Amino acid sequence: MKAYLFGVTPVEEAFLKEWQDQHPDDEISYTHSPLTADNLELAKGFEAVSTQQAEPLTASDLEHLAAGGIKHLALRKVGADNIDLEAAAKYGITVANVPAYSPRAIAENGLTGAMYLLRKWGYYHRKMRRGDFTRSTELMSDEIFNQTVGIVGLGRIGAAAAEMYHALGARVIGYDPVYNASLEPFLDFVDFETLIKESDIVQVHIPLTPENKGMFSANEFAKMKDDAILVNQSRGELVDTAALIVALKYHEIGGAALDVLEGEEKIFGRKFEDVGSLPDEYTELINLPNVVMSPHSAYYTKMAVKNMFFQSMTDIEWTLSGKKAFFKVN
Ligand code: COI
Repeated sequence: MKAYLFGVTPVEEAFLKEWQDQHPDDEISYTHSPLTADNLELAKGFEAVSTQQAEPLTASDLEHLAAGGIKHLALRKVGADNIDLEAAAKYGITVANVPAYSPRAIAENGLTGAMYLLRKWGYYHRKMRRGDFTRSTELMSDEIFNQTVGIVGLGRIGAAAAEMYHALGARVIGYDPVYNASLEPFLDFVDFETLIKESDIVQVHIPLTPENKGMFSANEFAKMKDDAILVNQSRGELVDTAALIVALKYHEIGGAALDVLEGEEKIFGRKFEDVGSLPDEYTELINLPNVVMSPHSAYYTKMAVKNMFFQSMTDIEWTLSGKKAFFKVN
């Protein structure tokens, strides 16, 4: 097979070497850069491209890739919201993702953020930095087994999160338009309104669509409990960031664990000196004591990264040999 890989990290370089040792006839080239209009010419003459980026791939990018011979786009990730899937289909490019590289990796990261906030670690750590080693009434915390955890989206990741919280003794409720009876031992299905009103922790595991952009906004924060924790590991655009900051500052909700944030594609994965200036909202959130953030690293475990790489390579091989892509998304 002839494939060009974009955005390859040093860890993936080692996996690529392993793959090439096992597939000496494959013609594979790569770059560390993400795929953009400026470098897509690199893929000319190849049959497939692979990428893991958050940067968008537009209709024009896909048209140019197709003109250069690309028939398949393998995403080394699950989310395809940054790809114009209709345009890909129009230009004869199949797009496939890796939907289950490690649902636990993400679910567990959300749980970690929620527990950090629940047990007030951030507040205590700040106090201790100032030389204040006291406990205080407002920092008395709850225990997870007394909490109601609401999981929004009960696909693979949401289901893994529900199982984890259930194992810790929490009451778990979940919202998903698709009912899944196999989750009954772990949670009660409720509607979205009930979920946001009753949950102490609201953890979001849904893909971004044009319809659900900003689904957590002032209206939802007003309905949530005053000490509720919002956990977003999915996509930043699901949450109205400005409304979230207001809700956090004015104690309409208690805290937020954020692995994703609106506009992150220009920021996460880079250092400050390469970003230039940080939007005010980022600075504000990073400095709030009731917020814990990570740079879209919930997925970033040894197992997940390995699975993403090898599953997407296998998918390219499979598709180019004329078989149906395992996880075609368009
Ligand atoms: C995804 O798999 O869609 C993610 O969000 C993780 C990605 C940044 C590698």
